[in-house]
This record gives sequence, C-alpha cells and structure tokens, in this order.
Amino acid sequence: MLIQGLLQSNMDKPRIIQLPKISDPRGNLSVIEELKDIPFKIERTYWIYDVPGGENRGGHAYKENQEFIVALSGSFDVVLDNGIEKKTFSLNRSYNGLYVPKGMWREMTSFSTNSLALVLSSTKYDANDYIRDYAEFLKFAGV
Ligand code: TYD
Repeated sequence: MLIQGLLQSNMDKPRIIQLPKISDPRGNLSVIEELKDIPFKIERTYWIYDVPGGENRGGHAYKENQEFIVALSGSFDVVLDNGIEKKTFSLNRSYNGLYVPKGMWREMTSFSTNSLALVLSSTKYDANDYIRDYAEFLKFAGV
C-alpha cells in the first residue's frame, strides 16, 4: 500500500524524463514508448513551431489531460504552477522531455528561433478539459 502510494505520488509529479539516446556517428536517435518511457498511453500528438520571438503559449490547465513535452529542436521554458508554487523547466535537448501531470497551470515561454515543441497527450482534444481562467484554476486546485 505504501509503495503504491509512493508510486502514485511520483506519477503525479512534474519531472524531466531522460529518454533513451542511441548515439551514432551517423546521427543520434531517441525514442518514446508509451507506458514505458512515459507514464501514460498516447492518444494525441501535436507540435508547436514558427513561434514569433517573445510570444508565449499555454496559459491554461487541463482537468484530465497529461502531457509529455520535448524540445525536438531549439529551446524553450515550461513554467508549471500547482497554485502554490511555480517551477520553470528549461528544455533544450531532444533526449529530454517534461512530464506534466493533469491539473497544473502551464505556460511555455522563451522560445528560441526555429524551436520545435513536440507534445504527447494522454487524451483526445476536448475544449471542455481546459481551464483558461486562473481564478477558476485556483478553485479547481483547492487553493
Ligand atoms: P491551445 O491548446 O490553447 O494552445 P497553446 O496551449 O499552445 O497556447 O490551442 C490553440 C488552438 O488550437 C485552440 O483553438 C484549440 C486548437 N487545438 C486543437 O484543435 N486540437 C489540439 O489538439 C490542440 C492542442 C489545440
């Protein structure tokens, strides 16, 4: 029971996950397998690109959706907020990704020129899963 509880709390924690990297003089290769390298089944994949300098993305939370975000090219920051504290994760390696549990306010900032953000999602797109109002998010988070 205790171990189950610990696993559960670790699953719900935002964290950088280092992906397998197969180094090769011909070029490196990294891979993501659902439920192995990331803790959820992939229902959707989208990517963010051509972000003009100074623009931010995100600024919302999901009630159910979990995400895994990889900087396939370039760099950007993901700011995660649980309603009490904010933490900034800098992504700039294509073999690292950020696991974002459900129920966190998240913003993506500081995109470098030509950066490419790959996002794997645990649910299909559902506009009703979004919380776009910060006050509503705080209420949802019980803060
Ligand atoms: P949104 O998730 O708000 O983007 P971001 O968090 O990067 O700022 O999505 C922007 C628009 O794209 C919004 O109108 C919804 C639409 N969209 C889809 O239709 N399907 C999707 O899977 C996603 C992620 C967004």
